[in-house]
Amino acid sequence: MFKYFCLSVLVLMLSCNTSEKKVTIVDGTKKYDVYQGSEMAILMRGMHAFNLQLKKEVENGKITTEFPEEFLKIYTAEFSESKSRNSTFDQYSGKFIEAQKMVFTEDSSVSLSKRYNTAINLCISCHQTECTGPIPKIKKLLIK
Ligand code: HEC
Repeated sequence: MFKYFCLSVLVLMLSCNTSEKKVTIVDGTKKYDVYQGSEMAILMRGMHAFNLQLKKEVENGKITTEFPEEFLKIYTAEFSESKSRNSTFDQYSGKFIEAQKMVFTEDSSVSLSKRYNTAINLCISCHQTECTGPIPKIKKLLIK
């Protein structure tokens, strides 16, 4: 019961809407509600994980990866039921992709950590418009 409670709280904190589909997995006598996300939510979790790794590389001053082409799915991925693509989203997604790509550009006069933070700040800007739940988690990606 306590576990279930923790999981529910986690879901409420990390996602923007509470009406997400949940799948119940019955494991012996225990029941777990597993949170399933939309294509967009899954993409976002991937973007978070990627940038968490990238942050370490930026802090060490050496990037070993390239811009992940999967991020371009932000233009086509399906949203959760209660959400849909709109002009604000389109505007911010374009800006974000541009900024994320800039992190991987070698010839820039702007420092690597600044370019990285610009991309993360665009995650936050978009989230401020319609999906505030994950903001505290995203803020942790910023390099201070
Ligand atoms: C253009 C707007 C926009 C940008 C840019 C953006 N997000 Fe999101 N994010 C959203 C929306 C909208 C959702 C909700 C998607 C849904 O529920 O279908 C979301 C959901 C999430 C979630 C919750 C996923 C879940 O499990 O429900 C996390 C975490 C997240 N974003 C992190 C990030 C990070 C990290 C970045 C930058 C690397 C980022 N986002 C960039 C709009 C954006």
